[in-house]
This record gives sequence, C-alpha cells and structure tokens, in this order.
Amino acid sequence: MAEIMGMVTTSHVPSIGNAIAKNVHHNEYWAPFFNGFDPIHAWLKDHRPDVVVVFYNDHGLNFFLDTMPTFSVGAANEYTNEDEGWGIPTLPSFKGDAGLSWKIIEGLVQREFDITSCQKMKVDHAFTLPLKLLWPDEASCPVITIPICINTVQFPLPSASRCYQLGKAVGEIIQSMDSDLKFLILGTGGLSHQLDGKRAGFINKKFDQTFMQSMITHPAWATQFTNHELVEEVGTQGIELIMWLAARAALGGHVKTIASTYHVPISNTAGGIMLLEHVD
Ligand code: DHB
Ligand code: FE
Repeated sequence: MAEIMGMVTTSHVPSIGNAIAKNVHHNEYWAPFFNGFDPIHAWLKDHRPDVVVVFYNDHGLNFFLDTMPTFSVGAANEYTNEDEGWGIPTLPSFKGDAGLSWKIIEGLVQREFDITSCQKMKVDHAFTLPLKLLWPDEASCPVITIPICINTVQFPLPSASRCYQLGKAVGEIIQSMDSDLKFLILGTGGLSHQLDGKRAGFINKKFDQTFMQSMITHPAWATQFTNHELVEEVGTQGIELIMWLAARAALGGHVKTIASTYHVPISNTAGGIMLLEHVD
C-alpha cells in the first residue's frame, strides 16, 4: 500500500525566490524563516518521499480571472514555471506522473468532487518556491509532483470545510493505492497577510498561532469559519491557509510534530512552517 509519511506546510512569498537567488537567505532578515527548514531537510534525508502532492493556489500564471476552476489537478508528466513578473528566477520544470495523477482524479470524481483535470499546467511561485525550500541543493526538484490547485483568487472560493473534505479524500485515495510509493503532502500559502486595500500589511499573530496549534490537536478547527470570517481574521490573502487544511486532512490521524516555526514578517506575510509526521 502507498504510504503518506508526513505533511509540510509553508508560506510561499515570492521574495523567498529573490533571497535564494541573491544568496541572502542567511542574513538577519531571512534566517529566522529559512532556519525553520533545517529539521525538515534532515527528516527528508531520512524519509526520502517519492511523490509530493502539492495543495497550492495559482496567482494568475496558469488560470486567469476569465477561467477559474475551484479545484484543479495536474495530469501531466511535466509542469513548467514561467516569469510571473516578480523578478524571481524561473525554476526548471517539475516532474509529474500523469498515470498517478489520473488515479487521484478518478478517485476524486468517484467521491463526487467536480474537479478540473489539467494535462497542461504551468506552476507559479506557490508551487515552485516551497519545493525549492525543501530541496535547496538540487538543481531541479528530485521527486514526482502532483499539483492540486485551489482557487483563492476570485470569489466565490471553496469553503474551509470543503477544502478539508477534498484533502481527506486525497488522503484516502493515496492510501488505497496498491503501490510502494512514499508520499509527502505539501500545503502552501498563508499565514495571515493582506497585500492591498485599507488593511494592507494586516497580520493576526494570535489567530495564526491558534491555527498552527490546531493542526496538531484539532485539525478541523478552522472549518468552523466561513470564508468571510477567515478573511476578517487573517486578511484577504491569508485565506490561503485553506491549503494547510487540505494538506492536514490528507495526512489524517495522529501526528508527531517534527518542525514548527512562526516568524513575522517575511515581506508582507506572517511566515509559518510545519512538518508533521504521520503516526499510527
Ligand atoms: C506575498 C505573499 C503571497 O502569498 C503572495 O502570493 C505574494 C506576495 C508577500 O507577502 O509579499
Ligand atoms: Fe500567495
């Protein structure tokens, strides 16, 4: 049976790409965030996942406002990155496995999730940078990737509760696979931030920290909130934390905390990082 080994969740601020490119990620500003990955690198060396399922939100590279699927799953053997205008280096293509993706897509549709399948999919900073953070020394990402994109760009957005259900279904599908593959779940986005409007720069440390704690002890805690309540609590872009919910639901069951870091700010965002390991 396929195994889900753990879950990593992290913020995906574009300037992470600049910090890496300019080799300033160990300076005073960036080190508190980047150092959060040290225990994760050690864990990855020991655990060596074969496949990473990435819950993330596209910000206009693959989908624009004219066509906005709520949930979409990549079904390609390769995913390309392109210049998004942030001034960060474009990363090499990411390996996919169309056959494996289709198993997930089929399982989701059987479980009544009406998802969009993408045999071509460009991946943006929300996908590329977290993978670069996991494998910083590799020229290209060494594992197979499966992108699962959740709309947080244009209302209406799926509810936190629905994202949790999506993640749970993905976890069940993986665990029912007759395969020796080892999976890591990655959820990217958040934590609190708002990039525009009157509340630009808004951060809610108290909510973020309660949310991070809930990932360990009450994973469905944040599903009690509507999207408008979440936007109130964590800002218009902080709603990206629904990726963490999907990832945590995919992991399921009991967990051991391997890494947990919270640092404010990186760019305009509260930087949160977690690695939870699956325990039976
Ligand atoms: C920032 C954060 C994001 O999540 C994003 O997608 C773009 C920018 C920021 O804090 O600058
Ligand atoms: Fe974002």
